[in-house]
Amino acid sequence: MPLAIEQIRSLRPQNEIHYFQKIGSTMTEAARLAALGVSHGTVVLSEEQTAGLGRLGRSWDSQPELGIYCSIVLRLDLSPANLPIASLLLGLATAEAIQNATQLACDLRWPNDVLIRDRKTAGILTHLVENAIVAGIGINVNHTALPPGLRTPATSLRIESGGRLQSRESIIVNLLESIDSFCSMLAAEGQESILRAFTSQSSYAMNRRVVIEENGARGVTAGLDENGFLLIRSESGRVEKVATGGVRPDR
Ligand code: BTN
Repeated sequence: MPLAIEQIRSLRPQNEIHYFQKIGSTMTEAARLAALGVSHGTVVLSEEQTAGLGRLGRSWDSQPELGIYCSIVLRLDLSPANLPIASLLLGLATAEAIQNATQLACDLRWPNDVLIRDRKTAGILTHLVENAIVAGIGINVNHTALPPGLRTPATSLRIESGGRLQSRESIIVNLLESIDSFCSMLAAEGQESILRAFTSQSSYAMNRRVVIEENGARGVTAGLDENGFLLIRSESGRVEKVATGGVRPDR
């Protein structure tokens, strides 16, 4: 079933929502709008993407009407050095929205994969367009199966809730509310509040044996630095900062 877009619009009048049946990637359209100067909170939402983008040049499975595929333009008071904070904020907001809408417990893997039982259920991509952040959020909602051979084991909210069909409208409304509330927290309490929230909610932030995807180095996670980068302690005791990419569990 297509999204009840007018219901979403009536519950979120503060977001300007651009809705598509089919699009290449919501990132491209949101970047175009950001460059035109649209306001904070403008959303591009599509039922389907034919060229959904993932992080690190990967693609994102975007089958029609099963998932949530959206990009949101954010205008935050963050310097480019602190951009990882925006990624952490979006991960926190996405996890909170899923939990509030579905009661499923979520974990976060730096920088912003949302996991349920260690399988990925949502991914986030952030691009800087002039002075705006374009944040792309993909959530696997009503898939009954995910494509085989994905790099990270994936799941959907429907699979995790024993086959129950989930309301994409409710998740989107919760997502926009949670993004607002974490943006307000950042503005009022500063970026330390985001670092604290992420550290307390992510089982990957501390004492987790991981492999750094970028270079295959192994180590144990040792918290976040003040800019939101993940720190890894190697066996030799050296502490390394993960600059790009991410980490996977070292099994
Ligand atoms: C990841 O690799 O974890 C990030 C995935 C981000 C996917 C979303 S879906 C909506 C938006 N449009 C895209 O093309 N990608 C992002």
